[in-house]
Amino acid sequence: MLLNKRIIVGVCGGIASYKAIELVSGLQQAGALVDVIMTDHAQEFIRPLTFATMSHRPVYHNLWEPSGQAAELHIALAEQTELVAIVPATANTLAKLAYGIADNMLTAVALATRAPLLLAPAMYKGMYEHPATQANLSLLRERGASIIEPQVGRLASGAIGVGRLPELSVLMGAINLVLGREGDLAGRRVVVTAGGTQEPIDPVRYVGNRSSGKMGYALATVARDRGAHVTLISGPVALEVPYGIELCKVETAIQMRDAVDSVITDADVLVMSAAVADFRPITPASQKIKKNETRGSGEQGNFSLYLTRNPDILGQLADADRESGVKRSRRLIRVGFAAETHDVIAHAQAKMAAKRLDLLIANDVSQPDSGFGTDTNKAYLFHANGRMEDLPVMPKIDLAAAIWDRIVSLLL
Ligand code: PMT
Repeated sequence: MLLNKRIIVGVCGGIASYKAIELVSGLQQAGALVDVIMTDHAQEFIRPLTFATMSHRPVYHNLWEPSGQAAELHIALAEQTELVAIVPATANTLAKLAYGIADNMLTAVALATRAPLLLAPAMYKGMYEHPATQANLSLLRERGASIIEPQVGRLASGAIGVGRLPELSVLMGAINLVLGREGDLAGRRVVVTAGGTQEPIDPVRYVGNRSSGKMGYALATVARDRGAHVTLISGPVALEVPYGIELCKVETAIQMRDAVDSVITDADVLVMSAAVADFRPITPASQKIKKNETRGSGEQGNFSLYLTRNPDILGQLADADRESGVKRSRRLIRVGFAAETHDVIAHAQAKMAAKRLDLLIANDVSQPDSGFGTDTNKAYLFHANGRMEDLPVMPKIDLAAAIWDRIVSLLL
């Protein structure tokens, strides 16, 4: 999403300015054309050469250099850029931006540009919480600036409080979100399910599966980067929540069904990439089952677990729509996945028909580069008109993009 995007990273003079080096490097590696503008105070912490080395481009700082080229350049930079991200934004620069003061290269460009402004305040908590800073931030927010909230944690002074610059993944996520606002999913509400459900046997054990959530989180991230409002309904996973996504955590299939039901009325698209348990223990034990317990008709040393069928979330939605004559204000595009270990195409076609889907993505989870826990996936795409696409193995993030391409064409 960042390939060839023109981004200005403005760096102010705060201890967190060293973290902007990582950001510039990350953006450059993602293919963006990054122009760094430093304030004089930022140069007290880091030399321009460091940023130039990371961005592979000149670094700007002196609006007043005698040739007058910089003065001319600040207009060109302001007009060409697609985003101005100020990381870190100090209380001083926020105050200047709020009052339209343009006394250095960065504030002059920020005033001249019509590109979106993204601010990542980072400072001592007393400065951040001061009514002057808060009033400036409110004013900037009202005028359309996006603010990345600072985190609570240990500050450079040693104090604990609000004011820390968030991690790189958050900064990159926020940049992608702002740049994607006009994308082909702008204005769309999408619901993505991810991860596996866990069906309790007793308070310490569950029936589960091997889903890591990677496929679902990739789908949610790409939808955000293309402008959608994303609700991610996730089973327990060990993944970082993508920035700017509404997360709903669930454990069981019943909870996932209830979560889907509670958000689906306003949604344009539901993508069920979660591995939902088809069965759950009928009566989970209220206390930990001891290893010498025997249950059911099991012989001594054996243990029988009685399971009952879980609701089919996707299937029930189709049934509800059919029975109620579709109450929704807009048509819901329903996309399912099929995790198969054999006869992939036949099983997927049967699921497509049974759940009456708009699109089904089948993956062979017995393959080492596909399915559970992998960073790549190999998929067959089944369309409602019977067409099938056989896609090559690719990173899950690329497969997510390919899936959204197909969904966007269904939304037109
Ligand atoms: O999370 P990862 O490690 O990245 O792995 C990704 C994945 C392999 C989990 C993913 O690509 C995938 O295949 N997800 C679907 C897994 C699954 O439950 O498949 P299924 O064939 O059993 O179910 C078919 C469809 O019905 C799925 O969209 C499923 O979400 C849905 N379903 C299933 C059972 C149920 N009770 N309700 C449902 O809605």
